[in-house]
Amino acid sequence: MADNVDERVVSVGRKDKIGHVVLDRPGQINAINNALRTSVGNALRELDGDPNIAVIIISGAGARGFCAGADIKDQHASDSLLDLRRNLLPGWIDAFDQISKPIIAAIHGYCLGGGLEIAMACDIRIAAPDAVFGLPETGLGLIPGGGGTQRLPRIVGLGRALDLLLTGDRLDAQEAHRIGLVSRVASSGETLRDEAYALAAKIAGRPAGASAYAKEAAKGGLDMSLADGLRLEKDLFVLLMSTEDRREAAAAFKAKRPPNFTGR
Ligand code: CAA
Repeated sequence: MADNVDERVVSVGRKDKIGHVVLDRPGQINAINNALRTSVGNALRELDGDPNIAVIIISGAGARGFCAGADIKDQHASDSLLDLRRNLLPGWIDAFDQISKPIIAAIHGYCLGGGLEIAMACDIRIAAPDAVFGLPETGLGLIPGGGGTQRLPRIVGLGRALDLLLTGDRLDAQEAHRIGLVSRVASSGETLRDEAYALAAKIAGRPAGASAYAKEAAKGGLDMSLADGLRLEKDLFVLLMSTEDRREAAAAFKAKRPPNFTGR
């Protein structure tokens, strides 16, 4: 768990090869304060370094939602620019990009502002039918500060992103799915957790190195020219050719038996 954080705002669970980070301020719809920022980063790094964990799920505690964004009550006009900058830069949500394991956001209820920015920094988003998405920041006289202006256009395209950024309009789960903001909608709020775990287990059953490199190539390539991205892909492909798991997959296919992957 987090160092130097006296308020428990994040809980971490482990089941089989799945690590589960729960944003845990349900009374404030899991709004993001400094303690939560620190705790989430620490929890992700801890799970990323745990050899027994293959996939990470992030969800929000309580019935109201995943996360209602930055803690508006905790924002002090008196904070110095240096303090604000220290809290935002280097972007704490950008730390998600340093995590090599796949991260799944399991989203129910409100997913607003910084909450949506957390979800967008994850690799796969699965929503409950009651999920509500939006970036209200411009209505607060701000812009998103956790990557929203950069990740939203990369996920849904510039036109849709600007529409959402400039209007603050909210999307329901079906609309979010239609525009590709989430890739899956759970059949119900009650089954969201099980469906997220089933998805995580499916990924956890595959060779860990291949998952990590698929993520690195796809996300890393977004910041590169096509030629550099293709080069990155080939380099990672060649590295995977030398792994035991790659040999095991081929041997299992030939022997018509299930593979036994070891992550090596
Ligand atoms: N910060 C702090 N507290 C919050 C919060 C937030 N972002 N969102 C909700 N809460 C608190 C409420 O103050 C309330 O607490 P009390 O019971 O102690 O009064 C509790 O959570 C429940 O909220 P509501 O009573 O408001 O519930 P509701 O159902 O009427 O409305 C809501 C839910 C639509 C999410 C509404 O709470 C809301 O609009 N919240 C703010 C959403 C928002 O603007 N988020 C973006 C913040 S800016 C950002 O994220 C990025 C950035 O830094 C620039």
